[in-house]
Amino acid sequence: MNKILVIGALGQIGSELILALRKKYGTENVIAADLRPDTNKKLGEDGVFEVVDVMDKDELRNIIKKHNIDSIFHLAAILSAVGEKNPALCWNVNINGSFNVLDLGVELGLKRIIIPSSMAVWGKNVEKENVKQDSVLQPTSVYGITKVTGELICDYYVQRFGLDCRGLRYPGIISHGTLPGGGTTDYAVDIFYSAVKGEKYTCFLSEDTMLPMMFMDDCIKATMQLAEADFNKLEHHSGFNVTAMSFTPKQLAAEIKKIIPDFEIEYKPDFRQAIADSWVWSIDDSVARKEWGWKPDFDITAMTAEMIRVLSEKHKKGLI
Ligand code: NAD
Ligand code: SER
Repeated sequence: MNKILVIGALGQIGSELILALRKKYGTENVIAADLRPDTNKKLGEDGVFEVVDVMDKDELRNIIKKHNIDSIFHLAAILSAVGEKNPALCWNVNINGSFNVLDLGVELGLKRIIIPSSMAVWGKNVEKENVKQDSVLQPTSVYGITKVTGELICDYYVQRFGLDCRGLRYPGIISHGTLPGGGTTDYAVDIFYSAVKGEKYTCFLSEDTMLPMMFMDDCIKATMQLAEADFNKLEHHSGFNVTAMSFTPKQLAAEIKKIIPDFEIEYKPDFRQAIADSWVWSIDDSVARKEWGWKPDFDITAMTAEMIRVLSEKHKKGLI
């Protein structure tokens, strides 16, 4: 990868991935792009930023050519909760956007394309615990349906055109940088903002809803590790299972209380409960461990300590 384009660069994951990529490959070699302009210079003063709608194939082609891009991290998507409210938008962005990226990958002879998938690929007729790499994919959320379709179309481009396309099924990502963009696992980020501010948190999932999760540092590590893996050694391509921990809101609240004893939580499940109930409880990521050496660093205790440390500092400075 010599010249990289990150689409969806202002999002929860993109805004942190871009910093890691610029550190490794050089700021001048990593171009940021998003539908929204970077008005607050969130991605820093240096580095190129392009405004683009991933559904505008001609404009995307212009940007790829203008910067001599050879590799793309395509992170622009509509997540699960927003997707349930606007299924057509979710389908259009997640499917047609990915299709444009893959098509341009073949047309312009790009070296590598990374498109994340999600634990939302699972739904009916699948084991809830330690779900295997090649288990049944029958999601019930529109977001999950787009993620399964996205994986299949990536694999199709690998087989049909020999395009180097890779992806991983992220669990819920927990971070202190950019707020999440409208998913079902967002509670596991929001809860920390309330905790460090001394506020009671109202959780939109029930106390016993178990979901797989991962701290952002591990998310970035996994993404870069897969992106740099030897393509010839990969048996799978578009949807590697990865995970770091699984917990319920009640277990997370108990972990927070170990550091902030006065923390309080109440539960008022909303429409996102049905999405969470359709997902699995834990993930078997042994294939990613075997094919490209995946291993997470953060468990629930380490993640909680780091989230509270960083967000407490931000709160003291009046930044949140
Ligand atoms: P996000 O919602 O935080 O960010 C997405 C970004 O894409 C936003 O900045 C948005 O402005 C941009 N975008 C939306 N529509 C666009 C368009 N038409 N053209 C260009 N840009 C557009 O999402 P994220 O959490 O950073 O997720 C990145 C990827 O990881 C997605 O594919 C998502 O499905 C996947 N994922 C995320 C999580 C998670 O917990 N964050 C979990 C599983 C999978
Ligand atoms: N965190 C994501 C969501 O909740 C999972 O893909 O939508």
